[in-house]
Amino acid sequence: MGLDNRVALVTGAAKGIGFAIAERLARDGARVTLADVNAELAGISAEKLVKGGFEAYGVGADVSRLPEVKDMIGRTVDRFGQLDIVVNNAGILRSTRLEEIAPEEWDLVLAVNLRSVFLVSQQAIPHLKKSAAPRIINMSSNSGRMGGFESSVSYAASKGGVIALTYALAGQLAKFKITVNAICPGTTDTDILKDYTPEARERLRQRIPLGRLGVPADIAAAASYLAASESGFVTGLMLDINGGMYFG
Ligand SMILES: NC(=O)c1ccc[n+]([C@@H]2O[C@H](COP(=O)([O-])OP(=O)(O)OC[C@H]3O[C@@H](n4cnc5c(N)ncnc54)[C@H](O)[C@@H]3O)[C@@H](O)[C@H]2O)c1
Repeated sequence: MGLDNRVALVTGAAKGIGFAIAERLARDGARVTLADVNAELAGISAEKLVKGGFEAYGVGADVSRLPEVKDMIGRTVDRFGQLDIVVNNAGILRSTRLEEIAPEEWDLVLAVNLRSVFLVSQQAIPHLKKSAAPRIINMSSNSGRMGGFESSVSYAASKGGVIALTYALAGQLAKFKITVNAICPGTTDTDILKDYTPEARERLRQRIPLGRLGVPADIAAAASYLAASESGFVTGLMLDINGGMYFG
């Protein structure tokens, strides 16, 4: 998919799904900001892309905090002159049992996974309005659809919120031709699963009819489609990439 020098901002891009998306969009022709709360790793990951011949920029930002969001977007536009594609990918997973979740943990998960999508999208709007093919792509989850299997209720609620927010933004931003879609990955093999026991991973794998966990490239291919100018008539889509993981 040709992205013709368009500018993409991917949050949570230092590793995992976010890095795979940043790399894929760069291969498609975009200039890419890789933003992450882990500023050092964001820089290292951006440098990897630069060494591969792509235009990439690493920025440190906690996307749950408004001043850091403003700074991240400002630096992207200063660097590349425009902003066309926002991928709200940053997220954290908790698997704390319902009875044991502290209010602080609930608030943290909702802030990183949901408030961030609101803040980044809101701050990006003035720039996206100037784009010929503006895109917002949000990272929800199978948990947001089905309540989660091994993850905590806070994670499921945050990702369900991302689905509702995606519909709401798609409706409100259509008048500016900004498309807003979400990807709902099933279990995908990244560091976010690090706290799961081998037994929990195996239980998740057994729920997947296609017989394997997802890999970041599966999700990056979907982001590439949603970012492309060819997908300009697609908005308010929840794109499940999960190997058929629909059954509780
Ligand atoms: N891996 C899965 O099974 C799976 C399934 C469904 C959805 N997702 C979602 O995909 C997204 C990417 O997850 P992943 O699997 O690549 O996980 P990951 O842990 O490998 O990567 C997440 C990245 O987000 C960054 N991040 C965390 N908090 C941040 C913050 N406040 N500000 C900026 N960056 C922050 C982390 O530093 C990390 O680089 C998340 O939103 C996650 O919920 C993952």
